[in-house]
Amino acid sequence: MSSRAVLAVASECAPLVKTGGLADVVGALPAALEPHGWTIRTLIPGYRRVLSALKRPRVVLDLPDLLGTPARLLAARVGDLDLLILDAPALFDRDGSPYLNAGGNDWSDNDLRFAALSKTAALIAGGALTGWQPEVVHLHDWQAGLVPVYMAAAGVTVPSVMTIHNIAFHGLTAASRMTALELPAAGFTLDGFEYWGHISALKAGLTGATAITTVSPTYAHELTTPEFGMGLEGVIATRRHDLQGILNGIDTQTWNPASDQAIRSFASPGGKAANTRALRAEFGLDKSRGPLAVVISRLSDQKGLDLLLQALPALTGRGGQLALLGSGDRRLENAWLSAGAANPGMVAVRIGYDETLSHRMYAGADAVLVPSRFEPCGLTQLYGLRYGALPVVARTGGLADTVIHANAAALAVGCATGITHRPNCVPSLENALAQLCDLWRDRPTFTRLQRNAMKHPVGWGASAPVYARLYARLAEQHADEHADEHEDPA
Ligand code: ADP
Ligand code: GLC
Repeated sequence: MSSRAVLAVASECAPLVKTGGLADVVGALPAALEPHGWTIRTLIPGYRRVLSALKRPRVVLDLPDLLGTPARLLAARVGDLDLLILDAPALFDRDGSPYLNAGGNDWSDNDLRFAALSKTAALIAGGALTGWQPEVVHLHDWQAGLVPVYMAAAGVTVPSVMTIHNIAFHGLTAASRMTALELPAAGFTLDGFEYWGHISALKAGLTGATAITTVSPTYAHELTTPEFGMGLEGVIATRRHDLQGILNGIDTQTWNPASDQAIRSFASPGGKAANTRALRAEFGLDKSRGPLAVVISRLSDQKGLDLLLQALPALTGRGGQLALLGSGDRRLENAWLSAGAANPGMVAVRIGYDETLSHRMYAGADAVLVPSRFEPCGLTQLYGLRYGALPVVARTGGLADTVIHANAAALAVGCATGITHRPNCVPSLENALAQLCDLWRDRPTFTRLQRNAMKHPVGWGASAPVYARLYARLAEQHADEHADEHEDPA
């Protein structure tokens, strides 16, 4: 099959740079779409750690004045990934995370950094690279939101898909930045990128992209409500016919318990025991008469881990244990460290980010807890399913779309894969933790649930063709609309 071209634009891409699930999805989509006839080149910022990981990058474009700063575009392959890297030292060559300085605050020039990324994407879409031009551009979150604005300003009509991974982040900046970001005054309107007197990069993407997707069907529905729309529900409502929820998958090669080099590999629930013992030892947890649950998460309000602190006695009081790996909000970090100190041998907390440890945790755990207040998709429950760690999740967003609750009906027909509870509700979370402990004691039932979980399809098999169809539809519509421009004048 001859392949068609997509330019993806994102601020993170696993395995090179990751702070959360966005990176996993951006890193996995190219391999998922290739069998469907679409080749994705992914444009990311040349952060210091990205540049140092590249082998033999080629300079493919000089950008002597990109929003006032000198830059170059590099091309490199990393594994399956065909990357374009924006090397703009003044913007990206620094220590720290993609978004935050060492003090944990947003970089003060984040608007300029990701506007530069977006402007570069628009140039590429417009044909700036010799011999390669995309048929579709795929924009991920607010960091790519300004691409349609820069494309329109340059008369580039390539269709675009804007994927919302998390509507909580708007990419807001002051109206006084219009000139520095080279934004057209005509776009600063209610129908454009103006948001309560500010510039909103996410709104620019939502109003300007040809189609909008989000990462689960339930979140697509939730986004239209004030409870979840975070002030953009009105904008979403005006575009509801162009909005589609496409469930995330995971990279089932990287995340395969049968071949994972980071763990003692296993292909059935029985094979987990050695990993569970090792995990208890690694976290200094006692031998126990209850399940070992894990949390692997950003520590932010979204994730509901303050609710879990309140509900914790429902787990530990029944002999259940918890190992938590996470970082983020300082107050939550401290509260969890205190909970660990107060429950020695039963609750253990690691503050930090550690990809390899996360594999060992999914492999050793009986359960993965995800008590989010909202969750566009969520990937940790999918890793949990794959590794036979039963997801105990809030019934919201993609969590509601991926876990089959062990209610009486599901248990009777043998299809349950986990436990769900009401979001933002401590008593319901306590019930879920109690049910986990009860199910764990009923070994045949628990093992059956783990088997179901490990068999549940969590790859890109279902969703990759949906993206492929969307790309094809947009490309065909564009070709129809612009047919006369390509007609031979003779
Ligand atoms: P979000 O993107 O909102 O953070 P997801 O569930 O979609 O949530 O994705 C989180 C990803 O980040 C998963 O791959 C998870 O394993 C990983 N992760 C989160 N926190 C940590 C951490 N402290 N150490 C290692 N991996 C982490
Ligand atoms: C966001 C969401 C998360 C989702 C991830 C990848 O970070 O918070 O729910 O799984 O993006 O789409």
